[in-house]
Amino acid sequence: MRHGCRTVIASRSLERVQESAAKLMAATGQRCLPASMDVRQPETIKAAVEKMLRVFGKVDILVNNAAGNFLCPASGLSFNAFKTVLEIDTIGTFNTSKLLYQKWFKDHGGVIVNITATLSYRGQMLQVHAGSAKAAIDAMTKHLAVEWGPDNIRVNSLAPGPVSGTEGFRKLGGLLMAAADHCKVIPLQRVGTKTEIAHGVLYLVSPAASFVTGTSLVIDGGHWLSGANDMSAIQALLQASAKL
Ligand code: HXC
Repeated sequence: MRHGCRTVIASRSLERVQESAAKLMAATGQRCLPASMDVRQPETIKAAVEKMLRVFGKVDILVNNAAGNFLCPASGLSFNAFKTVLEIDTIGTFNTSKLLYQKWFKDHGGVIVNITATLSYRGQMLQVHAGSAKAAIDAMTKHLAVEWGPDNIRVNSLAPGPVSGTEGFRKLGGLLMAAADHCKVIPLQRVGTKTEIAHGVLYLVSPAASFVTGTSLVIDGGHWLSGANDMSAIQALLQASAKL
């Protein structure tokens, strides 16, 4: 929004995005439309997209950021828990991309950024659900980039590392990680900020990336290269995270 976008933010909870929209508008002077949708329910996405097109008349950028996650070993994961995370992350990304394509991008072009993760690069413990879901999104990025490139649509992934001040950081043991000084395993010796991730998205959606499609940008301070599956630390994290 600081770079000129009018924006729609969506959540299952309208109240939550109404509050965020008010803050974003006050901070940037741009318009922000809050929308209620569940990415697992195509009808709710369709209604939100139709409303947005009535209000703004166009759409240039889609950021697929909806995700659900928690720490859990595969052995403790119910069938429904695995399915739920894939439905939110993977199927939600497909549903939203397809509806935006049908309603606008097919005829006008556009840019899609899918927020993924590095979890599957090394097979992170306690994350078979989210890692599998995000790996599928990385595949989807490539498939859609190839199919929709001729329609002047670019599709890329962005994989953040641990980012302070986020729900993911809180739920996935970030505070414990920071308290135990595990940030030392990150080559840049610290966790990231929301602004650093936003700058990556800004690059991918801007004309600076006009020839970039079908790829993944990792913004994690080098974490996935060095962060190991430290069994005892992860066991401690799992026990502590039950209380989060
Ligand atoms: C094990 C769990 C669990 C947990 C829920 N489940 N939490 N299993 N450990 N901590 C199980 C439930 O028991 C249920 O299975 C199934 O998952 C579905 O749970 P519901 O609560 O019914 O589903 P729903 O209300 O749709 O909630 C989805 C959710 C929830 C994912 C479970 O946490 C959510 O809505 N999260 C959205 C916000 C979020 O997580 N943000 C952080 C994203 S961070 P049963 O068998 O009992 O029916 C992120 C970053 C990834 O994604 C990359 C990191 C680097």
